[in-house]
Amino acid sequence: MALQLGDIAPDFEADTTAGRIRFHQWLGDSWAVLFSHPKNYTPVCTTELGYTAKLKPEFDKRGVRAIGLSVDKLEDHAGWSRDIEETQGTALNFPLIADPEFKVANLYGMIHPNASDRFTVRSVFVIDPNKKIRLSLTYPASTGRNFDEILRVIDSLQLTDKHKVATPVNWKQGEDVIIVPAVTGEDAKKLFPAGWKEIKPYLRVVPQPKS
Ligand code: BEZ
Repeated sequence: MALQLGDIAPDFEADTTAGRIRFHQWLGDSWAVLFSHPKNYTPVCTTELGYTAKLKPEFDKRGVRAIGLSVDKLEDHAGWSRDIEETQGTALNFPLIADPEFKVANLYGMIHPNASDRFTVRSVFVIDPNKKIRLSLTYPASTGRNFDEILRVIDSLQLTDKHKVATPVNWKQGEDVIIVPAVTGEDAKKLFPAGWKEIKPYLRVVPQPKS
């Protein structure tokens, strides 16, 4: 069965551009973004990896480690990394897993045989410090992902964990948030002593809590 939200992200051992890793050990207490890209030396992947490298300060702020995966061999990653730096202006600053035997790709359902049985689709897994999968996304090979959106989801997840709030449609940092339905009125008074706007009993809006 496909991996689902709330499942423990499967552990694995793999060679990466940062050496051999055991995934759970590498994760430590961090959040992680594990993402696959179809193939080295392809244009969309080149832009995605360059942009993800640029986002490192944003990932660091949120306690998130990024890790990419392709089914190319480790020795193919080095030359492509140089191209990424040259064309995207930022060198890779996170590990790339080399998975030529599709071990990790199969473990995470990144091969969709009716799309391609040779390359991974564009999968994304956001994994929390308890090793639970909190987001999974699948994009086709021809569409580059929006990594700002992935950061936005991480912000939302971290707010939910810390403050028991959810985020409404198209929410952006600093905008109002919603008290999660599981919080009773009594508990809401303790959590949000300044009060909230009750549009409906199930739709209670508060300013975004400060971190
Ligand atoms: C790309 O990364 O540019 C790409 C990879 C596979 C299929 C289409 C595009």
